[in-house]
Amino acid sequence: MADRKTQKLLEGLQQDLERELSAMLQYLYQSSVLLGPSAVSIAPFLKHEADEELQHAAFLSDQIVNLGGLPKLTAPKISETRDLRQMLDNDLDRERECILEFRERVKQAEIMGELGLKIQLERLIEEETQQMRSLERILRGWATGPS
Ligand SMILES: [Fe+2]
Repeated sequence: MADRKTQKLLEGLQQDLERELSAMLQYLYQSSVLLGPSAVSIAPFLKHEADEELQHAAFLSDQIVNLGGLPKLTAPKISETRDLRQMLDNDLDRERECILEFRERVKQAEIMGELGLKIQLERLIEEETQQMRSLERILRGWATGPS
């Protein structure tokens, strides 16, 4: 039986895993349903994000097993909006939440002396931050309109 700190970390990683799986499904859905100019401009970006989220989910799933747990591959329900602006607003909110949660996981891993895991989680934060910046940039251009 895992000690309390490990148990807590496993619970956090499981929540992270579900969030990443949901993100992966969300991006995949979005990249599929877009029509018109967005189908060739933004859809490939969203598909790429879906691939990245799958990598994150696979990493987290492996870490759960490494710590003696068993991953549950379930995901919260995704939004089925077909409004591009709403899609991207939702994505940005979720990326920000992912980063906040991973920061917690980094602290937990450090306290447990799991330095390898801590560094890998920091790399995830770096990738999530890039995703967040890309979304912010798209949305910022949108708010001000073309110049
Ligand atoms: Fe992610």
